[in-house]
Amino acid sequence: MSSAIAKVHALEILDSRGSPTLRVSVQLDNGVLGTASVPSGASTGENEAVELRDGDKARYGGKGVLRAVANVNEVIAPKLVGRNPAQQAQLDALMLELDGTANKSRLGANAILGVSQALARAAATESGLPLYAYLGGPGARRLPVPQMNVINGGKHADSSLDFQEFMIVPHGAASFSEALRYGAETFQALKGLLHQRGLSTAVGDEGGFAPQLSGNEQACELIVEAIERAKLRPGKDVSIALDPASTSFFEGGKYHLTRSGQGEKSAEQMIALYRSWIDRYPIVSLEDGLAENDWAGFRALTAQLGDRIQIVGDDILVTNPIYIRRGIAEKACNAALIKLNQIGTVSETVDAIALCQRAGWGFVVSHRSGETEDSFIADFAVAMGGGQIKTGSLCRSERIVKYNRLLEIEDELGPAALFGN
Ligand code: PGA
Ligand code: ZN
Repeated sequence: MSSAIAKVHALEILDSRGSPTLRVSVQLDNGVLGTASVPSGASTGENEAVELRDGDKARYGGKGVLRAVANVNEVIAPKLVGRNPAQQAQLDALMLELDGTANKSRLGANAILGVSQALARAAATESGLPLYAYLGGPGARRLPVPQMNVINGGKHADSSLDFQEFMIVPHGAASFSEALRYGAETFQALKGLLHQRGLSTAVGDEGGFAPQLSGNEQACELIVEAIERAKLRPGKDVSIALDPASTSFFEGGKYHLTRSGQGEKSAEQMIALYRSWIDRYPIVSLEDGLAENDWAGFRALTAQLGDRIQIVGDDILVTNPIYIRRGIAEKACNAALIKLNQIGTVSETVDAIALCQRAGWGFVVSHRSGETEDSFIADFAVAMGGGQIKTGSLCRSERIVKYNRLLEIEDELGPAALFGN
């Protein structure tokens, strides 16, 4: 007889920006406990599932999550007590039914996801398996190549950069642990370079540096220099991935590169800009190169550059099977960013990934800019086997905890571990 859920309990905690979020614990009647904490984005897509906040300006400027906490403790918990925690799909479906809205606005995607992830954790522990093996089965042994966000701009930092994320991708390493070393050494080399040039080495929300540079392109130049300084080969050992998060500077049909003083551009001009960068820098992946509603632009981007680099949809797809299906049909991207809290349950996230896999798309399991000490996505990335993760820079413990968990998984798998996609 498997154990049953005895207690589901949520608590308001703080995320890495000091804003409230939820921690949920699921306790089974044999004492097994699974807990999970929910992340939170800053440059969110408009079609993401709703993150329920109290709106009570007297607490945390309206950002409290006591309503979501109450929804877990008073609405969801009574329905789950007595149920089998291993029935992830049924329990996720039950929560969707309880919510009753298309975007989870009644109970809150933050409330639902916290429970969904805590259920998976409790069920994994109950079954005696590590989370990655429980969710991914005995074949789960592929460690992901990380996209490490070493220069932060856009909504994640007060830097001079319009583009949100300049990432390094240590794909030339033979193992995850070596890739992590490549990343950390490049990060330290970059710090030295910035310091030498009198530029700030203070970091943004995801732990990347946030210097006042002369323009977006200078970030790519600096990264290439840092890779070389770390005695690694740009394009062979370590390449570049970008997430301009273009929705954040798209207005009135134009892309406004205001912070860097590059003026306004059409989608075609943005594509031309990316092409010129790809010609000159070792760029392997471009996420949200255009805005979330610019489907025509995305189709053109993928048609023109999709055979040279990975074109990732984040805000445009929001980990939602509806938009991923459309993206596949319209050839708007060739990969999806996967954020559990964009859709709100583990089961729906797995469905979104299955669509990508069937279409031959890549997918990148991702953190949010507001994170916690929860390392769920590290196990999740290995479970899903896509070989890619994006979880921030090489500092700040809410980022490092995911990397450290991946080191543990690689160690545990031993010679069975695979690396990359
Ligand atoms: P967010 O940013 O978590 O602030 O939404 C991450 C991203 O755009 O990929
Ligand atoms: Zn993004």
